[in-house]
Amino acid sequence: MKIFIDTANMEEIKEAFSLGIIAGVTTNPSLVAKEKNVTFEDRLREITELVPGSVSAEVIALDAEGMIKEGKELAKIAPNITIKVPMTPDGLKAVHAFSKDGIKTNVTLIFNANQALLAARAGATYVSPFIGRLDDIGQNGLDLISTISEIFEVHQIETEIIAASIRHPQHVTEAAIRGAHIATIPYKVIMQLFHHPLTDKGIEAFLKDWNNRS
Ligand code: E4P
Repeated sequence: MKIFIDTANMEEIKEAFSLGIIAGVTTNPSLVAKEKNVTFEDRLREITELVPGSVSAEVIALDAEGMIKEGKELAKIAPNITIKVPMTPDGLKAVHAFSKDGIKTNVTLIFNANQALLAARAGATYVSPFIGRLDDIGQNGLDLISTISEIFEVHQIETEIIAASIRHPQHVTEAAIRGAHIATIPYKVIMQLFHHPLTDKGIEAFLKDWNNRS
């Protein structure tokens, strides 16, 4: 499973990218809205100059025509821009049009397996099931990853599954076990993945022994 970072914050992207573990970036309108004094387009330029992998940029229009127009403009920013489109009939019309033009797409706000199947059949490059938001309403988000993964495998569908709305390290491990191709992870959770108390304790003990050597 590859790791994407789920943020529009440049400091977080730079720091995570320097760790050598980041294969792509996802943004959404809420994440972009947190960034001050920078336009969406300029931020996308900064990100794509640093990260060679997929960088998802979400359209705001809700009608297919508007999404296609916006998406085509965003796709001009860099060849690694992926157009993120919401899971609606208009969204899938746009995905279909983008796929004919060779523009990569990420269908977002996927909450059941049929939505993932429809998005894949429309030609989506990626589908993004939202694990944490399903957990929030008392459903099991990780089960959705397993179901989509099984369907895509049985029917040899090449669309990649991005486990999104990740809230904690256990989501990451489980998404990997259950067949997500990618997990898009907030910076805070990426940093949590590094930690184990026995690692800290081990480093401390090694240093203590080294400093006390005769
Ligand atoms: C994915 O592409 C979304 O940006 C993101 O994972 C949503 O996460 P949230 O439910 O924590 O807002």
